[in-house]
Amino acid sequence: MLITFVKIGPCHLKPQLTRLLAGLLGPGLMLMILLMLIFQSPALAQPAPASSSAVAATASGSAEATVYEQRSRHNPDGIGKFYLGREIAQVMGHQGAAWLERPSRETEEQPNAAIAALELQPTDVVADLGAGTGYFSLRISRLLPAGRVYAVDVQPEMIELLTFLQQEVGIENILPVLGSETDPHLPPETLDLALMVDAYHEFAYPYEMMQGVVQALKPGGRVVLLEYRGENPFILIKGLHKMTQRQVRKEMQAVGLVWRETKHLLPQQHLLVFQKPE
Ligand SMILES: C[S@@+](CC[C@H](N)C(=O)[O-])C[C@H]1O[C@@H](n2cnc3c(N)ncnc32)[C@H](O)[C@@H]1O
Repeated sequence: MLITFVKIGPCHLKPQLTRLLAGLLGPGLMLMILLMLIFQSPALAQPAPASSSAVAATASGSAEATVYEQRSRHNPDGIGKFYLGREIAQVMGHQGAAWLERPSRETEEQPNAAIAALELQPTDVVADLGAGTGYFSLRISRLLPAGRVYAVDVQPEMIELLTFLQQEVGIENILPVLGSETDPHLPPETLDLALMVDAYHEFAYPYEMMQGVVQALKPGGRVVLLEYRGENPFILIKGLHKMTQRQVRKEMQAVGLVWRETKHLLPQQHLLVFQKPE
């Protein structure tokens, strides 16, 4: 009998039945049963699911179904918006620009090894998306005597900083671009390579951004992501600022990019290579 009632759940007990049971079983036993019913009820025994919605405001401000889910319970380092199961990280503010230029980065991340692995051609047209202070743009531009780098960022302060640093060293083949959260503002079918270093995980609209990137790539053009390895708990970077290979591949596949290889040459990051189909 008890099992039957447990399955029914407390909300379905009719008042007459409750009175009958109280008479038969006595108030003490009845109270015990009711308590058991309450704690067996899936809705009450487990924490309430975080309020979530797959309907989010789009960039244009209209509410329509999107690929995103908004949850009220989330990691404090994130924006509460989830894409393909991953919470999007908060944008690293321009106030942290000095951290991007820290001298220890040479040993911690080995950027020169990462750049060598890109196998750039002197004529290549590259976009550095989420360029920040232009740490990678500046180093790459020197390898492209007949090519150029579009250094894209959403923070005007970062664009100012990278323009300043570029002018200081007299480099002319970097084109700073102020992008929006949904659009990298790049010309169509121009890029041989789109590079994202420690940036993609904080794109607020990764799907729209990557659609823009795919449009800007030449057929056969490559996308390379460097992300701290999410699989390794001993890499001391906040969880949302790391990504697993599996997640990166899922998200690139969602915009039609084809995984080519993952290079395991960096101390803490994955280097994943994708290609736009010919
Ligand atoms: C952690 S920093 C990395 C900067 C640079 N890639 C580096 O490795 O030094 C991430 C940068 O991505 C930029 N960003 C975030 N969302 C963006 C978006 N949707 N489009 C372009 N840049 C974005 C931020 O403004 C920030 O400068």
